[in-house]
Amino acid sequence: MASPASPAAERLPPSELTHLRETLASVGLQLPDGPEIEQRLRRLCQMYEPYLGAERDEPREVTDSRGNASCSGEAAMTHAFEGRVVLVTGANSGIGEAIAVAFAKERATVFGLGRRQEALEAARARHPGIRWVRADVAEAAEVKGAVDSIVREAGRLDVVVNNAGSFKFAPLEGSGEEMIRRQFEANVYGTTFVAQAALPALRASRGTIINVSSAAGHKPAPGGAHYAATKAAIESLTRSWALELAPQGIRVNAIAPGPVDTPGFEKTDVRAADLPALKESFKKQVPLGRMGTPAEVAHWVVAMADPAVTWVTGEILFVDGGMSLT
Ligand SMILES: NC(=O)c1ccc[n+]([C@@H]2O[C@H](COP(=O)([O-])OP(=O)(O)OC[C@H]3O[C@@H](n4cnc5c(N)ncnc54)[C@H](OP(=O)(O)O)[C@@H]3O)[C@@H](O)[C@H]2O)c1
Repeated sequence: MASPASPAAERLPPSELTHLRETLASVGLQLPDGPEIEQRLRRLCQMYEPYLGAERDEPREVTDSRGNASCSGEAAMTHAFEGRVVLVTGANSGIGEAIAVAFAKERATVFGLGRRQEALEAARARHPGIRWVRADVAEAAEVKGAVDSIVREAGRLDVVVNNAGSFKFAPLEGSGEEMIRRQFEANVYGTTFVAQAALPALRASRGTIINVSSAAGHKPAPGGAHYAATKAAIESLTRSWALELAPQGIRVNAIAPGPVDTPGFEKTDVRAADLPALKESFKKQVPLGRMGTPAEVAHWVVAMADPAVTWVTGEILFVDGGMSLT
């Protein structure tokens, strides 16, 4: 005689049953409606609970706001990236480093890309669990070589995070050709070259691209207009690629952070003595009253790339303490 379903499986919310049905339908298994099928799905969930539980650090049972327990949710997302391969560009510093670490914590195989060998060696020493490749994202041939080497070594590529970029602050009058060109090359061309090089592997894995934009990508940025223009371009690329690549099963989204305290500020042309005042002025523009941390951005990059997020594409997610509302 069949054993009764566990309490958690018995209370599996209807939304989870729908999700299970959709997941099965996506691999060609259309299930008829009816209580018997629902009971079987509940039992299936129950059968696999012990195995799922063995791999998790978190408690298995999750309760939603109405007190319903289920065998999915946060705990089911733990280590969702095991067996998956992630490339993070600009991973030797700031937000990119936090993103690479966050994916590694989820047990992804993480490749960090950076352009300076000495910075890569220092990053390798800090994070021996991450693999490192060198390329300037603005150089298409170098990018292709690096991405090809990753796919050769790891056999697949599931997630590409286009984080590498630079930001400079200058009024129109003081914006030199070199400064404008470098930002477009790293931020816009670089994002494009990486996505292009990764396409065949992402097609094979039905993977995902996460581009890192900025609040400046959709807000005016007096004194930083060209940087803002590069990020507006990234948001535009994100939406266009989302439509273009949807038929191939590739999701494309962007995260748009507000001001985050990173070494990036020291790479601007702003004098070191003026940086505290600049950061203060950014804090005042953030309704939550402070700059963000790299980890606060990384959290959402990982969430957006989660394989369970199957129906979100072309989204620009603001992670900015409310800055984009002002
Ligand atoms: N910090 C913020 O307030 C903020 C806000 C919104 C968006 N963002 C975006 O977040 C991303 C990361 O910035 P961050 O603040 O973390 O700055 P960061 O600490 O300077 O990190 C930027 C990373 O990108 C790398 N990079 C730059 N140009 C490259 C190129 N041509 N090829 C390969 N790598 C390159 C840098 O390498 P090097 O170490 O060699 O310079 C570094 O690893 C950028 O796209 C930035 O626009 C930042």
